[in-house]
Amino acid sequence: MTTSSDKTVTAVAHTNIALIKYWGKQNPELIIPYTGSLSLTLDQFYTQTSVTFNANLDKDQITIDGQPVTGKSGQRVHNFLSIVRRESGIDLNAQVKSTNHVPTAAGLASSASAFAALAAAASKAAGMNLSLTDLSRLARRGSGSACRSIFGGFVEWQKGSDDTNSYAIPVETTHLNDICIVALTIEKHQKPISSREGMAFSVTTSPYYPTWVKVVEADLENIKAAIQDDDFTRFGTISELNAMRMHALTLSADPDFLYFNGDTLTAMNEVKRLRHSGIECYYTIDAGPNIKVICQQANVQTITDTFSNLFGPTKVTVAKPGPGVKYL
Ligand code: DP6
Repeated sequence: MTTSSDKTVTAVAHTNIALIKYWGKQNPELIIPYTGSLSLTLDQFYTQTSVTFNANLDKDQITIDGQPVTGKSGQRVHNFLSIVRRESGIDLNAQVKSTNHVPTAAGLASSASAFAALAAAASKAAGMNLSLTDLSRLARRGSGSACRSIFGGFVEWQKGSDDTNSYAIPVETTHLNDICIVALTIEKHQKPISSREGMAFSVTTSPYYPTWVKVVEADLENIKAAIQDDDFTRFGTISELNAMRMHALTLSADPDFLYFNGDTLTAMNEVKRLRHSGIECYYTIDAGPNIKVICQQANVQTITDTFSNLFGPTKVTVAKPGPGVKYL
């Protein structure tokens, strides 16, 4: 058993946007999802995290952007560190320093980049030398979507059925490489219903949940085929449809809930208007009011100009495919 280590390890992980959404766990303890999902890792938004296990600490010390983290978020990081301690055999407390690199006011810091960076830094600081697959499995225990941020570009999370076989793999392709995501920050405050709560509630109360599980499998196969065929139209159409199917689960929950606000609807209509006028673009929306517009390089300028006029230029950020996790 390793009992001492004071090596500091720093890792960087980028966030990802799901085009086929993960929305529901068949095993909440191990974070095994009901369905597979598919995402694009982004170049713009990332988390840098340093971890040191140190015999002089009497408890885990966690800071994000220089501020101590306590309460529910602190507990979540502490629980994750305990998984790393259990798996590595180390029994020391850790110092964790995390910094989110998100364009000003973008409000896009995510648990995906956070737990991917933490998994990479903590496992290595604890003396583990994990393969990328095992790192993806570990990151999944912190936040489901984090398992996809271990890899760059397009990534598929294969749902699996237990801890050993639920992990992400990169989608090998050179296609759709001029894809851009125009992120619109409609609201930067924390969402009132977290993804974790929202998906659990959808699973237990939406009568449509079993249908979601069926259609996602088809959406996933179809989007992979669209990537292999380099077919942006099909790719965007399936992405938009899948996002709306996910949000239909919140509307059909009991009681119902909704992540959109009025500006979300304005932005959705604008994307459709642009599309009908020949500027090809689609939207996807996670568990909050913000929208990501999926487009190709040729249309980025028109799309950013349109949304800068609508919401102001500080609300618009352009992202491209980003890299997988790395150590500094
Ligand atoms: C809508 O990965 O944040 O962004 O596993 O409970 O931490 P936990 O949930 P999380 O959920 C992400 C939900 C989503 C869709 C997606 O990223 O696939």
